[in-house]
Amino acid sequence: MMGRYRLLSLLVIGVVLLSPCSQAAEKEDDGEVTVEVEDPSDYTSPQPNGHYHFAENFDDIQAFKKNWVLSEAKKEGIDEDIAKYDGVWEIEPPVRDGLGGDLGLVLKSKAKHAAISSRLKKTFHFHDKPLVVQYEVLLQEGQECGGSYLKLIAVDSTTNDLRNFHDKTPYSIMFGPDKCGNDHKLHFIFRHKNPKNGTFEEKHCSKPKERLEEPFKDKQPHLYTLIIRPDNTFQISVDHKIVKEGSLLEDFTPAVNPPAEIDDPNDKKPADWDETEKIPDPDARKPADWDETAPAQIPDPTATKPEGWLDHEPDMIPDPNAEKPDDWDNEMDGDWEAPLIPNPACEKAAGCGKWSPPLINNPEYKGKWRAPLVPNPNYQGRWKPRRIANPDFFEDKSPFRMTSISAVGFELWSMSNMILFDNLLITDDPSVAAAYAADSFDLKRKKLDQSAKTVWSRVMKSMNYKPGWWALYFLYILVPISAYVWYLCRQVKEV
Ligand SMILES: *[C@@H]1O[C@H](CO)[C@@H](O)[C@H](O)[C@H]1NC(C)=O
Repeated sequence: MMGRYRLLSLLVIGVVLLSPCSQAAEKEDDGEVTVEVEDPSDYTSPQPNGHYHFAENFDDIQAFKKNWVLSEAKKEGIDEDIAKYDGVWEIEPPVRDGLGGDLGLVLKSKAKHAAISSRLKKTFHFHDKPLVVQYEVLLQEGQECGGSYLKLIAVDSTTNDLRNFHDKTPYSIMFGPDKCGNDHKLHFIFRHKNPKNGTFEEKHCSKPKERLEEPFKDKQPHLYTLIIRPDNTFQISVDHKIVKEGSLLEDFTPAVNPPAEIDDPNDKKPADWDETEKIPDPDARKPADWDETAPAQIPDPTATKPEGWLDHEPDMIPDPNAEKPDDWDNEMDGDWEAPLIPNPACEKAAGCGKWSPPLINNPEYKGKWRAPLVPNPNYQGRWKPRRIANPDFFEDKSPFRMTSISAVGFELWSMSNMILFDNLLITDDPSVAAAYAADSFDLKRKKLDQSAKTVWSRVMKSMNYKPGWWALYFLYILVPISAYVWYLCRQVKEV
C-alpha cells in the first residue's frame, strides 16, 4: 500500500512540475490571438500631445473637407489639355493591412498633375525653435516614376489663396521621396533668400549615403521625419532611422554662401603667354651615322635552309584520284581541273617550295631622328586669371531663418497611383512628433510585424509544432514510466 501512495504523490509532483510548462504553451497561443483582438478596436486617431503647428490624421472626412483646398490652378508652360491640376484625391483606408478606422489621403489618379494644400493651424516662424516635419507615405502600387514629397508653403502675397497652389508657388521647404527609373531620391530642398538682392535660390541637400530603394517597392507605410534646428543642423529619418545629418551651411548645392574671391572674368590670357613646358633641344644635331632609311626588319642572316627541303616540290598538287564528273560539260563549265590536295611528298620533308629566311628585328634600325626634349627657357607656367573679391559675396550665418510657412501642400505628378499619405505633423518639438508616431505609424508597423510573425506561427501550427506541448507530452510519458520502474524496484525489495 505504501508503494501506491508514493506513486500517487509522484504523479502529483509531476503535474505540478508540468504546469508552468503548459502555461508557457498557453501564453504562446495568447500571443497569436491578441493580433486579431488588437485590431480593429485598438486604434484611435492620433492627436498631438503638446505644441504643434499642424496635425492631420485624415480620419475625419468632414474636417478634411473643411481644411484642405484643391488647386484650381494651371501649370505654366505646358499644353493646355494637361496643364490643369485635375488629379483625384480621396480619403479612404489603405487597400491592405490597415488599422480599423484609420483613413489616409490617397492620390487616386496617375499621369495627372495633382495639387492640394491646407493652411497651418499656426504660422511657423524660423526663430529659436526647431522645425519638425513628419508624415507617412504608403506607395500602395509601388512607384515607377513620380513624387510623394510635400511643400511647406511660404508666407507671401501670392499664397493667400490656396486655390492658386501650383508648381511655382513659393515654398520654403520641399521634403520627401521622389523616384524615376533608377533614380531614387529623398528630397530636402530649401529656398534661400539672397540677402544682397532679395532673390531666392533652391538649395538641394546632398544624397544620403545609403540607397533608399525599399520604400519605393515594398508597398508598406514609411515614416519621413525632417528636423531642422536653429543652429542650422538638420536630420532626416526614415522609419525613425537617421539616414542623413548635416548642416544647411555645408551639405547643400549650390552652397548657401558664395566664395569670397573669384577669378577675374575680365582677365584674359595674353596671346604670347608660353604654356609649353618642354621643347625639342634646338642645339641637338642628327648624328652623322644615323641612318633613317634602315628597315625595321631584315631576313635573319644566320638562318640556313633546313636539311631535306624540297625546292622543286609544290605545297599543293592536283588530287590524282579525282575524276571528272560524268555530267561535266567543257563548253558550259570550262576545262575540268582536279581539286588541289596537300602534297604528300611534303609531309615527311622539312618543307616545300622556295625557301626564304625568317624576318628578325634589324639591329641597325634607328627610325626617324628627333631632337631630345629640354625645359623650355620661355615657359611661363599655366596661366590663371587673377583673383578678385567676389562682387556678389555675402555671408549668411543663419540660413535656418527661412521665410515663415503658413500652409502645407502636395503638388505632384506620378506614374503610379494609390499613393496614401497619413499623419502629417508640423511642430517645433521632436518629442511631440515621436509621440504622434507612436500612436500611428508605430502601431501600423507593429501590426505588420505581428502579422508577419503570425504567418510564421501559422506555418508552425500547420506542422503541429508547439514546443510547450511537446515538452508536456514527453513528461507525461516519462513520468509514469519512471514511476513504474521505481515501483517495480520497490516491490522486488519488499518481497
Ligand atoms: C541676385 O544675386 C544673384 C547671386 O549673385 C544673381 O545670380 C542674381 O542674378 C541676382 N538677381 C538680381 C535680380 O539681381
